Amino acid sequence: MQDIKEKIEELRREKDAVIFAHYYQTMDIQNIADEVGDSFALAKKAQAAKEQVIVLCGVRFMAESAKALNPEKTVLLPVPKAGCPMADMITPEDVRKLKAQYPDAAVMCYVNSSAEVKAESDVCCTSSSALRVARSLKEERIIFIPDQNLGAYVAQKIPEKTFIFFNGYCPIHHKVLEEDAVKAKAAHPDALLAVHPECPPAVQKLADFIGSTAEILEYVADSPKEEFIIGTEQGVIDRLAQTAPEKKTYLLSPGLLCQDMKKTRIEDVLYSLEHHVHEVFLPEKERIGAFKSLERMMRA
Ligand code: 13P
Ligand code: SF4
Repeated sequence: MQDIKEKIEELRREKDAVIFAHYYQTMDIQNIADEVGDSFALAKKAQAAKEQVIVLCGVRFMAESAKALNPEKTVLLPVPKAGCPMADMITPEDVRKLKAQYPDAAVMCYVNSSAEVKAESDVCCTSSSALRVARSLKEERIIFIPDQNLGAYVAQKIPEKTFIFFNGYCPIHHKVLEEDAVKAKAAHPDALLAVHPECPPAVQKLADFIGSTAEILEYVADSPKEEFIIGTEQGVIDRLAQTAPEKKTYLLSPGLLCQDMKKTRIEDVLYSLEHHVHEVFLPEKERIGAFKSLERMMRA
């Protein structure tokens, strides 16, 4: 392992590369990354990156966002099969139909979507920027795509606007049941419950805190409390074990493991740097469309 790390370090310098990782990546990957963040932070870092090569350890939509925001750079996705099933639930045609049905509404698109879908939208959001973005829109009516649960969270916080939802969901977070939360709270009565807004509304209702991966990490680290039930992917618990070992954490339900996020192994990062693969390309029209929606999110 030390050998692999040294080789990665050498290649990173030689190729003028920077390694970004999402909090759902394994700790092996998080520990070799230059930056670890939630989707919003990774997009921001990618936009500002000075290095010629960005190695994005995450899933495809994250690498596509990096490419859309910083097209001069080479963006590498070490495992090309690492996708997001939620992003695959909506097509550009679905968006066009919704726009035709509600012509006065703004289309707000969760970044967990393809570049083509972003290009059909007016503005993007991440879980940590969604409230800010929705409030910044002048339209009273918002078509929120594709995540119905994040959409419900935003709608509940912003009652002055009307929302139209799409029926997409994250297969991992959406599986968490209200009864899982009730059981976990009964088993750990002193623990606070922190969940991702991709969890269903019934679970959100029982939570002490709702936020993005980065916001959950911050909430736990800053809280005077010691015990937490975590309603998001296992990677966040693994990170807390390293960064806040004094806290006791419990995963809300055993199914909170994103297979796509776990596809990247340290060997794939090495291979990616050695062979300059797998480069992300976007057709220029799509890239410009996605860029506009992402850039508008950044300005909100
Ligand atoms: P964050 O923006 O909170 O990191 O979430 C990304 C994601 O894919 C959640 O499932
Ligand atoms: Fe997509 Fe869910 Fe995995 Fe996040 S956890 S990348 S939303 S499948």
